[in-house]
Amino acid sequence: LAVHLISFFFSKLQEDPTKKVDRFLHAMRLHDDQLIDISARFQAEMKKGLSAESSAAAAVKMLPTHVRSTPDGSEKGQFLALDLGGSKFKVLRVKVREGMGVRKGGVEMEEKIYPISKELLNGRAPELFDHVSESLKDFLHVKNISLEKKHPLAFTFSFPCEQTRLDKGLLLSWSKNSRARGLQGKDVVQALREAIDRTGGMDIEVLAMVNDTPGLEPATFRLQGKLPTLEPRSPTMMTCGFDDQYCDVGLIIGTGTNACYMEELRHVDLVEGDEGRMCVNTEWGGFGDDGALNDYITEFDQDVDATSINPGKQIFEKMVSGMYLGELVRLVVLKMTKLGQLFDGLVSDALMTKGKITTAHVAAMEEYKNGLKNTRDILVELGLNPSQDDCIAVQHVSTIVSFRSSNLVAAGLAAILTRIKQNRHLRALRITVGVDGTVYKTHPQYPKRLHKVVRRLLPECQVRFVLSDSGSSKGAALVTAVAQRLASRKRQ
Ligand code: GLC
Repeated sequence: LAVHLISFFFSKLQEDPTKKVDRFLHAMRLHDDQLIDISARFQAEMKKGLSAESSAAAAVKMLPTHVRSTPDGSEKGQFLALDLGGSKFKVLRVKVREGMGVRKGGVEMEEKIYPISKELLNGRAPELFDHVSESLKDFLHVKNISLEKKHPLAFTFSFPCEQTRLDKGLLLSWSKNSRARGLQGKDVVQALREAIDRTGGMDIEVLAMVNDTPGLEPATFRLQGKLPTLEPRSPTMMTCGFDDQYCDVGLIIGTGTNACYMEELRHVDLVEGDEGRMCVNTEWGGFGDDGALNDYITEFDQDVDATSINPGKQIFEKMVSGMYLGELVRLVVLKMTKLGQLFDGLVSDALMTKGKITTAHVAAMEEYKNGLKNTRDILVELGLNPSQDDCIAVQHVSTIVSFRSSNLVAAGLAAILTRIKQNRHLRALRITVGVDGTVYKTHPQYPKRLHKVVRRLLPECQVRFVLSDSGSSKGAALVTAVAQRLASRKRQ
């Protein structure tokens, strides 16, 4: 009996495997004081990006989007749209019914996904754009769309561009998984037009280029504060978010991460005019590129950065977005194994290989019911021989890494919301954030965690999160529809 009792006590004394992970990753477990500090740093970066004196050197670019007009319901017609830079390249047809404007049922969309190889993304830009315009031509063919007629086109291009007009934007730098040569510093719309000419046989008018964040429909269609042509709120419209008076922020947590919001035009130094608001694309992925996040960067973040295609760039994005979360988990697990803290110190080839743990794995490991079993399956697939404690520990690594991501996004968002509140001299704010992106949509716990932290950081704000169900292309097409309406009004 004594022996049994002793071994019972020993097993109770044996450490919970999550504790050693907590200790090992203490630098990634950010508490609220740190999040408030990060939020304050981001607020300072936003100011830098907006001001004429400091914007050129700012890490957070705060790019004017020239998106500021509201659909008024008179927009109509059929638009083609291209969506390049998200997890998939898509060509779309968007039909806007007259009188319906942005209301539910007023917009119809059809899309086709065209795969793009790594070689194209990392080759020469003209070839990448040839592929884009050939896919467009194929789409016209498949959908039986007349090649004789002229078609207006909206281009969602999810990379940082300095826009002086809605239909002109210089690529500042590539990010995520693209780095096609020969486009940096050039006008992306022009490059697309040239490719369309090279392909030939189509009559396309590229009317607008929009980043994916302002393209998010709820974000785009709050715009100037009211949607004049909409009927009084009905419950269905409330749920779809179109008529949401307070939706002023767009957020993406996908392959990359970014946020946009409506800024007072008088604060956007790079654009003339003082009246009204303009949607600003923060390009917050670049937060930290000037060292502003150095206090929070771990050796794993440094590793991810060093082996990326753009070292020193997009530091915040590398701590947050889907392209990097799995890799962060892999690097932590590898280091812990090498230190003998996991798998009896036995490393596998797969565990040593970049990219072998993906963000989809991270999401699977954190599934409510099957998370632990999924973790075991994933580790076995990586050629490891995990004990139950190893599985619990690795699952916990995954939780800490993805939790840090939602914490950082919450800190950035809190900064944006605080700025909006100050801009409008409000003590409290009611606001809706339109969200999209694979991490937000597929990670089982991400949205809940993010919402909770934002609400904790900003108790005086009522923040509602609305999932964008149709991605950025609908928004981009509607921006184009508005542009077309305004242009035709000018011509009259
Ligand atoms: C990257 C791009 C940015 C885009 C974001 C989300 O951060 O630089 O333009 O909005 O990814 O796709």
